[in-house]
Amino acid sequence: MKIKTICCIGAGYVGGPTMAVIAKQCPYIEVTVVDINESRIAAWNSKNLDELPIFEPGLADIVKETRGKNLFFSTDIDKAIDEAEMIFISVNTPTKTYGKGKGMAADLKYIELCARQIAKVAKQDKIVVEKSTLPVRTASAIKSILDNTGNGVKFQILSNPEFLAEGTAVQDLLNPDRVLIGGDTSTKEGEIAVQALVGIYSNWVPKDKILTTNVWSSELSKLTANAFLAQRVSSINAMSEICEKTGADIKEVSKAIGMDSRIGSKFLNASVGFGGSCFQKDILNLVYIAKSYGLNKVADYWEQVIIMNDHQKNRFSDNIVSTLYNTVSGKKITFLGWAFKKDTNDTRESPAIKVADNLLSEQAKIAVFDPKVTEERIYADLEYLNSRSPKENKDLLKVCLDPYEACKESHAIAILTEWDEFKNYNWKQVYDNMQKPAFIFDGRGILDKKTLEEIGFTYYKIGSGN
Ligand code: NAD
Ligand code: UDX
Repeated sequence: MKIKTICCIGAGYVGGPTMAVIAKQCPYIEVTVVDINESRIAAWNSKNLDELPIFEPGLADIVKETRGKNLFFSTDIDKAIDEAEMIFISVNTPTKTYGKGKGMAADLKYIELCARQIAKVAKQDKIVVEKSTLPVRTASAIKSILDNTGNGVKFQILSNPEFLAEGTAVQDLLNPDRVLIGGDTSTKEGEIAVQALVGIYSNWVPKDKILTTNVWSSELSKLTANAFLAQRVSSINAMSEICEKTGADIKEVSKAIGMDSRIGSKFLNASVGFGGSCFQKDILNLVYIAKSYGLNKVADYWEQVIIMNDHQKNRFSDNIVSTLYNTVSGKKITFLGWAFKKDTNDTRESPAIKVADNLLSEQAKIAVFDPKVTEERIYADLEYLNSRSPKENKDLLKVCLDPYEACKESHAIAILTEWDEFKNYNWKQVYDNMQKPAFIFDGRGILDKKTLEEIGFTYYKIGSGN
C-alpha cells in the first residue's frame, strides 16, 4: 500500500517539523497539518517566514519549498481526516493538572478527542499513527474508541514515537538514528499498515534504521529513551555538585568518562538543569505507570532523576543569593537566555523559569535577554506559576531586546541558555557598565573563566570548584 494522503492532527513542535520533512522527502504525498489553534495555523501560513510559530534551524527553508505544493496547514480538521489514508496524531500530552494522577500521569484528553473525531468523520478505512508520546497500552484505548463507532470503518493503529530534539529537529528528522514503528503484525492488515509507514520513511531513511516492534514495546521505548537521556543529565549534574566541593572540574570529568565507549560522550554537559516539554513529563508518567503496577522501587528510582533536577535549579539560585552577600533584594540580576536550550524559542519547563521565580521571591530585580523568546512568553511562564501577581512580575522583571542594555548596572549575570552568541559578546564592555564586584554565574559552562577573570569578573561555573 503506497500512501498518497496524510493528515496530521496537531501543528506543534513535533507535527509541524515532522510533516514538513515528510512533505519534502515524499513529493508524491499530500500532507495536511491541522490544528484547533487558529492563530497557530495562521502563523504556519504566514507569508513572512520569520513569523512561523516555531523557530528551528532549517525549517523555514523546507516550509518555503513545500508549502502550497504538497504541504498544507488548515483548521478544517474534518475535511483533512476524511481525505487522508493515514492520520498522525501529534497533539500535546501534558502532565495532568487535576484529578487522579494529578502532577504525574499524562493527560490523554486531547488524544481521546482526536480518536473520537476520527471515529465520527471517517468513512473509509484508515491507518492511525500515534506520533505523540503516550503511556504504554494507550493504543488499546484508541482502538476501542475507533472500533466502537458502528459504521463499519476499519482502523489500524500504529505507534511511531518521535525522537527529534528541539533546536536540531530538521537534522534529526532528515538523519534519524532510528525510526521506530510499532504495529500488530500478527494480522495481515496490521502488517500492511506497518509496511505502508515503512514505505514512507524508506524514501530517505536506510532500511536498517527502520525498526518494527509490537505496539507496546514502541510506546514504552519512547518513555525509556527520554528517561535514560534525562538520567544522564541528572547523573552528571549530581557529580557537578561534588566537583564544586572538591576542586574537580565537571568538564574534565565528563571528557574522561565519555571517552569510555561503553559510556559515550553525549548528554554529559552539566547544566542548571534540564528543561523542555518532554523529560520531566515523560519521567513523571513513567513513575506513575510503575506505581500503578505496584512497582514502587522502580518508581522511586526514576523519580530521583526529577528530584536531582529540581535540586540543581534551586542550588543555582541559592548560590547566587549566598554569593551576593546573602541578599539580592533590590539588586539587578541579568538573565542571558530564557529558552530551555539554544536554537529554539520553546520555554516549556525551562530552568530559567524556576531560577527566576526563586530570585523574584528574594525581591531581586531581573532583566532578561533571549535572542528568540518573546516578552509575552516570558511573562506567561511566570504567571503560570502563580507565585505573585502579574503586576508584581512585571514590576520586578523586565525583558530587554538588547543584551548590553540588559547587563547595564547589573550586580550579576546568570547564563541560563547556551546560545552561541553569548560567547562572542564584548565582555569588557559589559564589565565596564556593571556594578562592582561584577559576578557571572554560568549555568551552562560556556564562557572562558580565564578571560573573564582577567577582565575583572568574579566567575562561577556549574561544576567547577576552582
Ligand atoms: P505542542 O503543544 O507544540 O503541539 C500540540 C498541538 O496540538 C497544539 O498546537 C494544539 O493546539 C494541538 N491540538 C491539541 N488538541 C487538538 C485537537 N483535538 N485537534 C487538533 N489539534 C489539537 O506539542 P509538541 O511539542 O508538538 O508535542 C506533541 C507530542 O509529541 C507530545 O506527546 C510530546 O510529548 C511529543 N514529543 C514532543 C517532542 C518535542 O521536542 N517537543 C519530541 C518528541 C515527542
Ligand atoms: C528530548 C530528547 O532528546 C528527544 O529525543 C525527544 O524526542 C524529546 O526530548 P529536547 O527536550 O528537545 O529533546 O532537547 P534535549 O537536547 O534532549 O535537551 C533537553 C534538556 O536537557 C535541555 O534543557 C538541555 O539543555 C538539557 N541537557 C541536555 C543538559 O543539561 N545537558 C546535556 O548534556 C544535554
